[in-house]
Amino acid sequence: MNNKNYQEFKKRREVLTNKIGDGVAIIFNANEVIRNRDSRYSYRPDSYFHYFSGFTEPQSALIILGGKSPKTILFCRNKDIEMEIWNGFIYGPKKAKELFLFDETYDISLLDDIALKEIAGHEKIYYRAGQDVLIDQKINYWIKQLREKNRSGIKAPYLVEDISSVADEMRLIKSDFEIDIMRRSAEIASLAHNRAIKFAKPHIYEYEIEAEILHEFMRHGIRSPAYQSIVASGGNACTLHYVDNNSKIQDGDLILIDAGCELEGYASDISRTFPVSGKYTKIQKDFYQMVLDAQSAALKKISPKHQWNDPHEAALSVLIDGFKEFGLCHGSRDEIYETGAYKEFYMHRTGHWLGLDVHDAGEYKNISDEWKQLKPGMTLTVEPGCYIRPSPKISKEFWNIGIRIEDDVLVTQDGHEVLTKDSPKTIEAIEALMAK
Ligand code: GLY
Ligand code: MN
Ligand code: MN
Repeated sequence: MNNKNYQEFKKRREVLTNKIGDGVAIIFNANEVIRNRDSRYSYRPDSYFHYFSGFTEPQSALIILGGKSPKTILFCRNKDIEMEIWNGFIYGPKKAKELFLFDETYDISLLDDIALKEIAGHEKIYYRAGQDVLIDQKINYWIKQLREKNRSGIKAPYLVEDISSVADEMRLIKSDFEIDIMRRSAEIASLAHNRAIKFAKPHIYEYEIEAEILHEFMRHGIRSPAYQSIVASGGNACTLHYVDNNSKIQDGDLILIDAGCELEGYASDISRTFPVSGKYTKIQKDFYQMVLDAQSAALKKISPKHQWNDPHEAALSVLIDGFKEFGLCHGSRDEIYETGAYKEFYMHRTGHWLGLDVHDAGEYKNISDEWKQLKPGMTLTVEPGCYIRPSPKISKEFWNIGIRIEDDVLVTQDGHEVLTKDSPKTIEAIEALMAK
């Protein structure tokens, strides 16, 4: 990170400070998780902690005090040469203060003592309630300890609010700094899909394609996928979260890949569906085009003039008409919509917010229960699909078709930008890529 980037995180803390009034925000970083004995899962910082600190070491926490004497305090690991010999560099409080621009920094072992001192006298605590029972207990214990000191004039907080009520609206609108990272994350994921599409052939295993995706991610400095990659051939694509990726690919299969990478904390999330043979069959083409048309209809509804649910409704109309044409659903479009009969073949929503979390922070409705208006700087996915599980009610030639087309999209002043445009999705473009 350069100085400009540290300033961005500092600015976010300042915005939060203004939003919490006289309250105190407490944000814990994620715990390291033991895989077995002394082996750990690779570390992934908490997204709220990342958003407000930019600090990626485990065993850290952040206190942001609002009110008359606002300040920001980072708790982190002390420098420890022994630990550094085994596990690598540690910033330590002194360096962290200078670089990450906190008002104060302390050894994490001082958290309880300092938190008690700083929280006293504030009415309200904001933290991520209900996420980790140990954190809930810790916060409650701090409040209890302060209450016990009431008679000596110490005031304990008496209000607790989930920090998402103030932080999620911030996270929902991405800054130019975040958009640059997300654009790059989307570019790298697009390259990975293109590599996988070119590589795919019948009679190999799904995990061989997954390896190509991971290879392309890592070649570009990605340390982790944003979620478990899905490489689903044939009927496996009808399992929405299929991650076994261990089947042998058969001639004539469609392959659905849903894979994205995490760059500096930010997720990309792309799905492409292509024929392993290099050419879609007539039936595959017809279903694929229906999903692609649904996606085009949804994309047309992404601009500041539209609300969150408009793309979903647009995609649904196209899909319902398609399901009728294929004889999968019967009755009028309205009936199929009202009864939810379409859900047998399209059972998920057409997208989600995208950002530090693949299903990112942020409400989808306002307090008045209306769908949120789309605004410049919001980032979302658009991912209609169609999944036909074997059933005696359904013509056998349709069985096991599973298709999803998913792009990452930024809402702009006058419309939108598809961040994942580098991965082709028309029938002609995919067949051309496979022929290379
Ligand atoms: N890959 C998760 C999703 O598409 O929502
Ligand atoms: Mn998605
Ligand atoms: Mn996805």
